[in-house]
This record gives sequence, C-alpha cells and structure tokens, in this order.
Amino acid sequence: MLEFCLVGAGFIGPVHAANIAAHPRATLRCVVDLDTAAAARVAEAHKARVTTLDAALADPRVGAVVICTPAHTHAELITRAAWAGKAVFCEKPIDLDLDRVAACEGVLAETGVPFCIGFNRRFDPSHAALRAAVAAGEIGRPEMLVITSRDPEISPPDYVAQMPYGIFTDTMIHDFDMARWIMADEPAEVYARASALMDAAANPHRDPDTAMVVLTLRNGALVHINSSFRAVYGYDQRIEAFGSAGMLISRNAEKTLLERYTADRVSRDVPPYFFIQRYREAFAAELEAFVTAVETGMSPAVNAEDGRRALAIAQAAVESAKSGQPVTLAG
Ligand SMILES: NC(=O)c1ccc[n+]([C@@H]2O[C@H](COP(=O)([O-])OP(=O)(O)OC[C@H]3O[C@@H](n4cnc5c(N)ncnc54)[C@H](O)[C@@H]3O)[C@@H](O)[C@H]2O)c1
Repeated sequence: MLEFCLVGAGFIGPVHAANIAAHPRATLRCVVDLDTAAAARVAEAHKARVTTLDAALADPRVGAVVICTPAHTHAELITRAAWAGKAVFCEKPIDLDLDRVAACEGVLAETGVPFCIGFNRRFDPSHAALRAAVAAGEIGRPEMLVITSRDPEISPPDYVAQMPYGIFTDTMIHDFDMARWIMADEPAEVYARASALMDAAANPHRDPDTAMVVLTLRNGALVHINSSFRAVYGYDQRIEAFGSAGMLISRNAEKTLLERYTADRVSRDVPPYFFIQRYREAFAAELEAFVTAVETGMSPAVNAEDGRRALAIAQAAVESAKSGQPVTLAG
C-alpha cells in the first residue's frame, strides 16, 4: 500500500483524496492545509488524520505527497517533499517563474524521487487514443492540430487578480502540454491574441477571457488553440488532428448519450459542466499511473521537464498577447 499525504484540501484536493481512497493499492494517511477545517473535512471523509507538513514529511509511512495548494507554494513544497525522500505528485504548474522551476528540477534530479505534474488531460481515454493513433502513423504526417478548450465560467475576481493572463498560464497550459504530447514536437514560435469580452460584472479586472494561439512547431506543423471562459453550453473540450493521410477527432463528452428525435430536430445532450465531471476518469487514471510508477520504479509519464516546457509556452503566449508580436522560443 502506498500511503499518501494530501497537501491542500481546497477545490481539487478532495478529487485526488477520493481517488487515493478508492485505489486498491493506495491509502490516504494524512491531510495538511493551512485551513485546518478544510483539512478536517477531507480527512474525516476518508478516515485519514489532520497533520502538519513537518510531521507528514517526518513520517516514514508516508510514501508520497500530493500537492494541491496554489501555484506560488508548489516549488517550496516540492523541494521539501523531495528532500524528505517522498514521491511527489504536484498539480500544475510547478511554479510561475521559470528560474524557480529550474531550481526545482535540480532538486528532483539530485534526490531522484518519482515526480509527476498534474496534466490530467493526457489520461483522458479519447485524447490518449487520438495521441496513440497519431504516434502509430494513422494520419500520416501530422500537419495541423486544432484544440478547442472552453470553460463554462471565469474564476472569481480575487483569483483572477492573483493570476493575470491566467487564460494562458492557468488554463491553456494544459493545451500547450497536449500540443507537445500529441505532435511530439516543440514550438519554435508562439503567436497569441487575447480579449476581455465578458461584461464587467463577470470580469471586473478586464483580464483576457477569450484567446487564440497559433504555435508553429519546429517541423513546420501548425497548432491552433482557442479558449473562452464563457461556454454557456458547458465544458467544451475537442481535439482535431489533421495529417497527410487523414484526420482524427476527439469529440466532446456528453452528459448522457440520449439523442432526441422530433418532427423538426435531432439533438444531443450538452457536455458535462466542468473539468471535475468531464475528466473524472482521467484524474483516476492519472493517479493509477503515478502509483504504478512509484511501485515499479519507472519514471512517471508526465515529468518536470513537461511542466517547464508548458509553462515556457504559456509565458511566451502572454508576451505575444501583450506585444501583438510573435515570440520565438529557444531551446
Ligand atoms: N488539473 C486540473 O484540472 C486542475 C483543476 C483545478 C486546480 N488545479 C490546480 O490545483 C492547485 C490548487 O487549486 P484549487 O483550485 O484546489 O485551489 P484552492 O484555493 O481551492 O485550494 C488550495 C488549498 O490550499 C491551502 N493552502 C494554501 N497554501 C498552503 C500551504 N502553504 N500549505 C498547506 N495548505 C495550503 C488553502 O488553504 C486551500 O485550502 C492549483 O495549482 C491549480 O492550478 C488543477
């Protein structure tokens, strides 16, 4: 049994806690949160204990730490857990500063602990099947990737204030990772445009809520990603890969598979409302892959380099959206 400590029991923390508790080869041993009431709620739900980070890291029965705190705390928590010899699963991003990410990568390399960054979309069965089909050459040479990634709502104003241009660094960072992963190449150039189109009541900071990005990959293939925080019909997640020998589409999920046929129309159900419902299976598969990696000593599928590269693209997109100019990516 791999015993976990969960750090951060806010929004996403309970999702991971429930998956750990449900996993046949994992248990949730303890929960840490500055908000002890939040920690207690999650601990009680899964018969775990509330503890402090120091106590958890000193506990030899804790084999792995899952970090679900805000982005600016991740680098320090990763570093402390790694030096304590714990396997680390961290929600995205590693940090918002590339120098701190590089320092973290150094510690992870030195300690050699298993590390996985939470790019959960890689574990969605349809997206993963699309990627496998591209890798198997089913569409010949991949030439274009079109990712539609739209949220049903914008984050609360205080969250937006702490994460300016979050449409790139908080949301599209998942899509940048998917683009690298599916196309098996890195962007040479990033061109982004962004607008604040929602009304002031919903988006008082006028932070971008609508964005489009074009990535030109080193091999010349093109990637388009579009994002919005106002998909009134639910969480819109579609991927289309086009190549010299055909096309693959990972369609939206639907809340039910019911189709309605009447005299004047045929309709299907809307997508699930948001990521917790849409990617439920992916979050569980992501945890399964992490547990297996720790057990077998194999490197987790999504590593610190993936975290750094996706962040570098997101930061280039912010720079491009601000300047109106394409940004060249080095390295
Ligand atoms: N993969 C995904 O789809 C996905 C979805 C949502 C959030 N996330 C990521 O998960 C992370 C957490 O997001 P959230 O929405 O759950 O945040 P949240 O604000 O709802 O919860 C964070 C929790 O961490 C606690 N906390 C803050 N600093 C702490 C510290 N130093 N030590 C212990 N506890 C601390 C807070 O009290 C809070 O309970 C973010 O990095 C976010 O980007 C990923």
